[in-house]
Amino acid sequence: MTATDLDTTADDDYDPFDAFNRKHGAGVVENPYPDFVAMRRDTPVAELDLREMFGLADDEMPENAVWTVNTFDTVQAVLRDGEAFSSKGYEEVMGAVFGHSILEMDEPEHHTYRGLIQQAFTRKAMERWERDVIEPAVHSLIDEFVDEGRADLVKDLTFPFPFEVIADQLCLPEDDKPRFHRMATELISVNIDMERALGASAALYEYFSKIIAERRKAPDQDLISVLARAELDGQQLTDDEIIAFLRLLLSAGAETTYRSSSNLLYGLLTHPDQLEAVRDDRSLLPQAIEEGLRWEPPLLTIMRSPTRTVQLADKELQAGDTIVINIGSANHDESRWENADEFDIFRPQIPHIAFASGVHMCLGIHLARMETTVVMNAVLDRLPELRLDPDAEAPYITGMVFRAPPALPVVFG
Ligand code: HEM
Repeated sequence: MTATDLDTTADDDYDPFDAFNRKHGAGVVENPYPDFVAMRRDTPVAELDLREMFGLADDEMPENAVWTVNTFDTVQAVLRDGEAFSSKGYEEVMGAVFGHSILEMDEPEHHTYRGLIQQAFTRKAMERWERDVIEPAVHSLIDEFVDEGRADLVKDLTFPFPFEVIADQLCLPEDDKPRFHRMATELISVNIDMERALGASAALYEYFSKIIAERRKAPDQDLISVLARAELDGQQLTDDEIIAFLRLLLSAGAETTYRSSSNLLYGLLTHPDQLEAVRDDRSLLPQAIEEGLRWEPPLLTIMRSPTRTVQLADKELQAGDTIVINIGSANHDESRWENADEFDIFRPQIPHIAFASGVHMCLGIHLARMETTVVMNAVLDRLPELRLDPDAEAPYITGMVFRAPPALPVVFG
């Protein structure tokens, strides 16, 4: 397997990180949280007026209504009822790029598939990944800039590290990694450049097919070998199912983790007293991680669709309608958190909903927490006197579906 196997959209002037960042709104500060306050108070469940929002004409309107669900209780009620609220709507949105992935499956198909995939995410695998994959990946990225005294923590650390981790979990050959990163970034750019995303999806299909064939012949400890071997009630994963999962991993696993660790670093860097508190007392790190996820979840909204007529708060929703589940708003619900828009690692810890809830609750929850712990400990250990670069543009978090800072310029030492 060589780098050229992934070289399908070669275009040397194209930097996928820059393109990704530019198109994801660098320079545009979007803060939806103030609007969510009134939405929670007045309309826990609301029908969106697409005519007004997007200027759609009558003949452009979708057949079914589009709703938004905004309070913690209504969000939780939808996510916990997988029978009344289907995930199949993702087929249309993401199916073309990821393939038929776990995200768009309902029961009982979802249950079987999840049971097979979960076999790769055991406690033992997590311990091995932490030691052999995640620690080395994080430290080698920090090695690159630690002597400079300054860095952009997004471009230099939080963006590349989850992709490095996945490449190593899959045991990809070293030479393939640059191309793999590029394909991964193009794949997750699905909502900004569909053509490139589809090209990357096809290239990854070819690439993964060859690797799966090799690993089926000579299995090892890596994630692909484990998925190829997984068995439940006599059922095994097909190549297409493994590939759909691997492609999803780049979005569900890497993009979310890069964004959540960036958001946590932003929260701490803009609240230096809290940064110092965590640096001095690492037992505060778990609650800092949860507060980062509550305050600025990397994924603001997810989708469901009613399977029948359902009553939700004061509204009646019909089968086939679309529901935009507002995780960000649920995580700022004032009935659960005081001064919910504030970043405060010392607030009483109660569960947030950044990882969703119910049967589709994030499968990578422990991995995500562990990766963030490793990256934060490495930053705190190796970058003394870490602070925002006073000479650079002040950072900001932006995005209306995925949220993160486009850059985090810092100085240290
Ligand atoms: C902080 C980081 C992460 C956040 C905030 C997050 C969030 C979420 C959310 C909200 C969902 C539910 C989506 C839906 O039902 O529509 C989800 C599902 C999922 N996540 Fe994560 N995730 C993170 C990290 C990861 C990681 C590291 C992995 C790697 C294995 C991962 C794998 C998955 C998978 C496979 C699903 C689909 C589960 C299913 O449909 O049963 N996630 N995640």
